[in-house]
Amino acid sequence: SEYDLQQIHDDLIAIAKEAGKMMLAAKPSALTSGSKNNSADLVTETDQAIEQVVLGTLKAKYPTYSFLGEETYVPGMRLTDAPTFVCDPIDGTVNFVHGFPNFCISLAFTLKRKPLVGVIYHPSHNSLYTAITGRGSYHNLTTRLPFTHPYLAPLSTLSRSLCAVEWGSDRSGTNWECKYNTFRTLAGAPSEGGKMVHSLRSMGSAALSFCAVAKGEVDLYWEGGCWAWDVAAGWVILEEAGGVVVDANPGGWDIAVDGRRYFAVRGCEGGREQQKAIIEEFWTAVK
Ligand code: IPD
Repeated sequence: SEYDLQQIHDDLIAIAKEAGKMMLAAKPSALTSGSKNNSADLVTETDQAIEQVVLGTLKAKYPTYSFLGEETYVPGMRLTDAPTFVCDPIDGTVNFVHGFPNFCISLAFTLKRKPLVGVIYHPSHNSLYTAITGRGSYHNLTTRLPFTHPYLAPLSTLSRSLCAVEWGSDRSGTNWECKYNTFRTLAGAPSEGGKMVHSLRSMGSAALSFCAVAKGEVDLYWEGGCWAWDVAAGWVILEEAGGVVVDANPGGWDIAVDGRRYFAVRGCEGGREQQKAIIEEFWTAVK
């Protein structure tokens, strides 16, 4: 291919490490948060400063590639078929503001709207998650994902799974209604029309939720309300770990990277057939 994915991967890692230092070095004043769409949709000076570094570095080295970033996004911008860097400078800004250590930078390279390279760096754990399409995904460049836990139970049904969900920042309107209905369907007892999953987990970062599914620490991840920068890197990392991501709307096998609802399933012994069964079960439950 005319794209040097290995070089792009290496460059994104170097940038992600720099960004990690900026997050950990942020002074309390730089944590002063402003809000975007509502009082739960936070942005800090550090988000903006990191995105400027990412944008500047990538534009200098790859001047002809497009860039889609959370902090430079203006309504109407879309992910296109062009080679594009997709950036969430701090995924988990609410955690960052509160000192809850689950925040990271999420960087991807996409072509024809598909992520081919993904890099997620979680600085407070010094954990790096990376993938190049077709070449597997790794933790700290050495451990291939998924992790194999001796206690990792085989993936079976929705009701026997641990499912990550996120609160996100939409707390009213259709997206909020969809969210609480889905939480209820997943967690509620059968007598309430629910599937009664083992439990729901909410980690505060879409990117790190994808990594948790890629590692096999949670079985599933459902979210409504994400943007391309929240999911692009995590998507390729998960797929390269044997997982699958689909549109959370029933029937959507062919997902758009800037669609807004996702359902992710970890890799499992039964492969695609078993993943399909659990996806169908989910779609039937949320219909
Ligand atoms: C948000 C986080 C959150 C998820 C939202 C995202 P941000 O990203 O990943 O967990 O629920 O959908 O927008 O604003 O912290 O970059």
